[in-house]
Amino acid sequence: MLAMNYRGPFRVRADRNKPYPEILHPNDAIVRVTRSCICGSDLHLYHGLVPDTRVGMTFGHEFTGVVEEVGPGVQKLKVGDHVLVPFNIACGTCPFCKQELYGNCHESNPEATAVGGIFGYSHTAGGYDGGQAEYVRVPYADVGPEVIPAWMDPDDAVLLTDVVPTGYQAAEMGGIKKGDTVVVFGAGPVGIMAAKCSWLFGAGRVIIIDQLDYRLEFARTYAQCEAYNFRSLGDPVLFIKKTTDYFGADVCIDAVGCEAAGSAMQTLTGRKMLLQAGSSTALFWAINAVKKGGIVSVVGVYGPTGNLVPIGNVLNKGLTIRANQASVKRLLPKLISHVQNGYIDPKGIITHRLPLEEVAEAYHIFSQKLDHCIKPVLVPAAA
Ligand SMILES: NC(=O)c1ccc[n+]([C@@H]2O[C@H](COP(=O)([O-])OP(=O)(O)OC[C@H]3O[C@@H](n4cnc5c(N)ncnc54)[C@H](O)[C@@H]3O)[C@@H](O)[C@H]2O)c1
Ligand SMILES: [Zn+2]
Ligand SMILES: [Zn+2]
Repeated sequence: MLAMNYRGPFRVRADRNKPYPEILHPNDAIVRVTRSCICGSDLHLYHGLVPDTRVGMTFGHEFTGVVEEVGPGVQKLKVGDHVLVPFNIACGTCPFCKQELYGNCHESNPEATAVGGIFGYSHTAGGYDGGQAEYVRVPYADVGPEVIPAWMDPDDAVLLTDVVPTGYQAAEMGGIKKGDTVVVFGAGPVGIMAAKCSWLFGAGRVIIIDQLDYRLEFARTYAQCEAYNFRSLGDPVLFIKKTTDYFGADVCIDAVGCEAAGSAMQTLTGRKMLLQAGSSTALFWAINAVKKGGIVSVVGVYGPTGNLVPIGNVLNKGLTIRANQASVKRLLPKLISHVQNGYIDPKGIITHRLPLEEVAEAYHIFSQKLDHCIKPVLVPAAA
């Protein structure tokens, strides 16, 4: 079958000879992919920053598809169902899944103590092949996949597998109270969605910070927020202090993660010399720009260890830091109804649609932020 194939940093290709996936466990299903997005998280893999990303792996954790085959243990899911599949692979029964911490499943990635299994996200996240392919194996098929409601556009559905829940959870973890000033670092798909969702929690002011003017322009319209380029702010932390009467923001959201720009020292130690697990510039700014007693919500992805994180300020300001992979399954019922009511328009962020054959071009465009790209979606021919 046709599938995205990782060859090494900055090298991916469309491979016509990937073996068709097989049912390996009675609770597996095989899904024929109808939509598959590329995520900022995939860029961390593509740029070679995630350990144990093996040559030959197929990425893709944001996908929809039609169920082709089910294992003998599958009870709810039926052949022919058109489903959206959460990016977290979760067993549904371990103590963490029981608490609805579906991103922290204890069974789907038993080699690790932090993250659970994730489709197409290296062997550190379980080594599962992902959905940037014609077909994909979906474990625990009765747990994650959600049948797409008849009224829902598949382009909306595919964004419910990650970006919408992640943006929503970023705002939720911020504990936003009515009238709060929320600052979101990063105007990629996740940051834009976090800004949009901050209003749903009652924010009084939402500010987004990035370095790409086209994304800031997009965020202003899509998320009705203020948007500033940190390259022209001088010191973004000072700017946020000045604009909040020197109190700081009530809530800061890090929607950038380990490839943040804006600090030569962080870039050198985190991205070039790999002396810390990525550059933590956005987290650094978030901690310093939030008010005393405030909350920093982190959804940007990092490796295990950061050196240049102002931990003393976290202590002396009495901050709360909340972070996680989004718990997609927990949030789906609420977010499906938000889409139905028109509170969120997920497909409004899709700017590029390419056939799966052009996966290498799609990665290049998204990675280099070409052609005003916000979110690319890959569509296999058989979709
Ligand atoms: N926690 C989760 O469940 C989850 C889910 C999806 C994505 N993510 C993570 O969220 C992050 C964002 O994903 P995305 O798809 O929006 O990625 P993206 O690469 O499209 O966007 C990141 C944006 O951050 C901007 N940026 C760089 N340095 C910055 C800085 N110092 N301050 C402000 N903005 C800066 C970039 O210009 C870019 O627009 C990634 O780290 C991704 O891995 C986490
Ligand atoms: Zn994603
Ligand atoms: Zn579990």
